[in-house]
Amino acid sequence: MTDKATLTIGDKSYDLPILKGSTGPDVVDVRKFYGDSDHFTFDPAFTSTASCESKITYIDGDAGILLHRGYPIGQLAEESSFLEVCHLLLNGELPTADEFAKFEHNITYHTMLHAQFDSFFQGFRRDAHPMAVMTGAVGALSAFYADSLNVDDPKQREISAHRLIAKMPTIAARAFQYSQGRPFVTPRNELSYSENFLRMCFSVPAEDWVPNPILTRAMDRIFILHADHEQNASTSTVRLAGSSGAHPFACIAAGIACLWGPSHGGANQEALEMLEEIGTVENIPAYVQGVKDRKYKLMGFGHRVYKNFDPRAKVMQKTCYEVLEQLGINDPLLHVAMELEKVALSDPYFIDRKLYPNIDFYSGITLRAMGFPKEMFTVLFALARTVGWISQWKEMFEDPSRKIGRPRQLYTGATQRDYVPVDKRG
Ligand code: CMC
Repeated sequence: MTDKATLTIGDKSYDLPILKGSTGPDVVDVRKFYGDSDHFTFDPAFTSTASCESKITYIDGDAGILLHRGYPIGQLAEESSFLEVCHLLLNGELPTADEFAKFEHNITYHTMLHAQFDSFFQGFRRDAHPMAVMTGAVGALSAFYADSLNVDDPKQREISAHRLIAKMPTIAARAFQYSQGRPFVTPRNELSYSENFLRMCFSVPAEDWVPNPILTRAMDRIFILHADHEQNASTSTVRLAGSSGAHPFACIAAGIACLWGPSHGGANQEALEMLEEIGTVENIPAYVQGVKDRKYKLMGFGHRVYKNFDPRAKVMQKTCYEVLEQLGINDPLLHVAMELEKVALSDPYFIDRKLYPNIDFYSGITLRAMGFPKEMFTVLFALARTVGWISQWKEMFEDPSRKIGRPRQLYTGATQRDYVPVDKRG
């Protein structure tokens, strides 16, 4: 086994160190390659590039494995709680009982928003997409919590991380209530993270939300499933934004903006819209033919990393069945989804390309059954992913070798030429 790769260009050879992780593919270290060879490496969508070193999340896409700090996602979803997973991602270890009590207290006592923050929402149109509200509102947090913006102070970094995890449900619930034309609901300290969020979303002045352990557990599990996912587009956005020294509220707002895209977190809304468009099982063959004719993609299917079942999708599918069964809901779209999955998984187009359902395929039906409109789906993803983003941001900041991220390019534009006055052009 060699610990270096050799790359030859013309009559010159360059030795490139090979670095080993604790598991997963080795990487070829090209950091000095440009300086030594005057060549860049070219990998526009990062299909072969490790952009950072990390100890947080590991994915084996061929085997369908997802580990957070070494723990399989299935075990965390079954046995842990979202706040415990937050502690795990942020601090590296599952908390002891004392550590958890302290962490939970810290998060709980940061859930309130500055009273003036509420008026910020009024600036949005009532029909604004809640993701538009989220992007603006989270960025605006920096204007209210200026006392934790010094990124060089570890204590301030920690306070900002706790504030983001704690205030995200409050902001998300306000974005929802605002879109419904209902007054905001203040968080209650005696409730759990997920219970508090559901109450803030569904309580109205005329009627309090009635706690429902099935829904609370499902919400918590859905948050766990979305908590982190290695160096995906939004996380890479957060890291790149943070590499300039930007404060976390700005970085997480950038992450939310990136997440909104339909290839990423926006796929959960689009997957449900697709199922609505298909409507009935009879329409599936024609729809699948349209996918194969490349008119559109099958939303909630496929993944850059997973070339096998997305392990999150398996848990999400189970949660979906449980929620619908326990709530006594017979959603015809579940039948469409199940049949669509069956058809796709037995079609050579999807088999050859290793396209499997991802987390977004069943999340929409579940969230709809829980009472959320589809515009809220990506908001819930953002809420849960905040801990992943801030953990990755923190890890980057704690790395003494941190440098500003600055990719280069393969330039194919005009070479140098002289300016031509307007009367001499054409
Ligand atoms: N429907 C139909 N064909 C697909 C799909 C799909 N959902 N996904 C990939 N393909 C095809 C693609 O056209 C290509 O075919 P060919 O080689 O013949 O040109 C092949 O499969 C490989 O796809 P790719 O575009 O190279 O894959 P990618 O890694 O660049 O894209 C993806 C990954 C997730 C953006 C893509 O699978 C997709 O657009 N899926 C639908 C959107 C979706 O569900 N996104 C949520 C991802 S999971 C949540 C998250 O973490 O954000």
